[in-house]
Amino acid sequence: MYTFDVTNYATRFAGKSSAIKRPREITYFSYDENHELKHDESSLRYYYTPESNADLNHGYNMFVKHDDSVDEHLDSLLDALVELEKKEGRCSTDGVHFVTWRGMMTKIMTVPYMEDGGQCKKLLRQIDSLKEVVAHASYRYIEENNLYKQSTRGFQDEKGARMSFWGYKFETLSTLSRPWGDATREEIEGRTNEIVSNKAQYCSIVQTGFGDSGLLIGGEVDAIWDCRPMNPSNPINYVELKTSRIVSTTNQQINFEKKLQRFWAQSFLLGVPKIIIGFRDDHGILKNVEIKETQGIPVEIRKAHVAQGLGPPPWNGNVAINFTTAFLEWLRGVLVNKEGLWRIRYQQRGDRIEVFQVQESGYAGVLTDRFLAWRSE
Ligand code: A3P
Ligand code: MG
Ligand code: MG
Repeated sequence: MYTFDVTNYATRFAGKSSAIKRPREITYFSYDENHELKHDESSLRYYYTPESNADLNHGYNMFVKHDDSVDEHLDSLLDALVELEKKEGRCSTDGVHFVTWRGMMTKIMTVPYMEDGGQCKKLLRQIDSLKEVVAHASYRYIEENNLYKQSTRGFQDEKGARMSFWGYKFETLSTLSRPWGDATREEIEGRTNEIVSNKAQYCSIVQTGFGDSGLLIGGEVDAIWDCRPMNPSNPINYVELKTSRIVSTTNQQINFEKKLQRFWAQSFLLGVPKIIIGFRDDHGILKNVEIKETQGIPVEIRKAHVAQGLGPPPWNGNVAINFTTAFLEWLRGVLVNKEGLWRIRYQQRGDRIEVFQVQESGYAGVLTDRFLAWRSE
């Protein structure tokens, strides 16, 4: 068993943020309306302002929901890498130490703030014993432990299901299937009655780095602001869409700021520059839409706290980045020359992360036959 100490994170991981590489997209893929994998951008959506006062409940009974109880492992991410490597004739993981989904990294980045007030229990449940690392050659593939994820998700009541629908409805109301310049009035106005489905998705795979640790991260991208840049090395104007309750009290503001850490980390990891938040009331009526620059969020929160005499902000972006850098470097050291399946778990007692081996060899379904066959060619 190897342990990584998380105590006194705020002072230990404070200071200027460690060297971060700007995430650079290496490839992308789509799931179509049947959730079938397509190695193209067919499911990419284009942002277009939603109408205000829209009812996010509209069409709730027609929701086409993807069954996410099936463990999809890293399958589509690995498949996209095989496609890319065949096309470009190069190895996509040179200089890469970890391959994972963005959701995993978001959880790691938010570890230092787990004990924070009311969020504590929920986040602890999320992080505890939920990651599997497959050590394979010189790379590590990190995925969620799906059994654990399912068991902690718990029962979703009617209210929870409805609120989850509001998020997808907002996505449908705020996007088009092609750039707004090409879209007809019918397509723009027809968004209200479009059937909401979460089966189709567009995912971007980026190469990025924390300190000396190189990462390949795949994650869903909700939409693009305009279109892809002509020069492929320029940043892509992707947008992340979110819904949140309108803020009217200081407590609500602080809760919103805590949520913003997840929004920020999620977008930061893929290099998504804009987060568009649809503020709704308790009945699911969309009240206003706010556009935030991802990069400016930590400073914005700090300034708001100082201006209102609220003391230090609930989280600090540099701490999250420095913590992640230190943790990944440590994990690389632990897993050097190791094989098999390892588990990462957060231990509340002692406030530390534990890493231990659960299988001496093999890939435990984390790596696909197709990927392994391609790599051994
Ligand atoms: P909101 O974030 O607006 O609530 P994402 O924001 O990551 O693109 O996810 C899109 C929507 O999926 C979310 O919109 C929410 O409605 C739903 N969603 C995501 N994770 C969820 C979870 N763990 N449980 C229920 N719904 C979830
Ligand atoms: Mg999304
Ligand atoms: Mg979203």
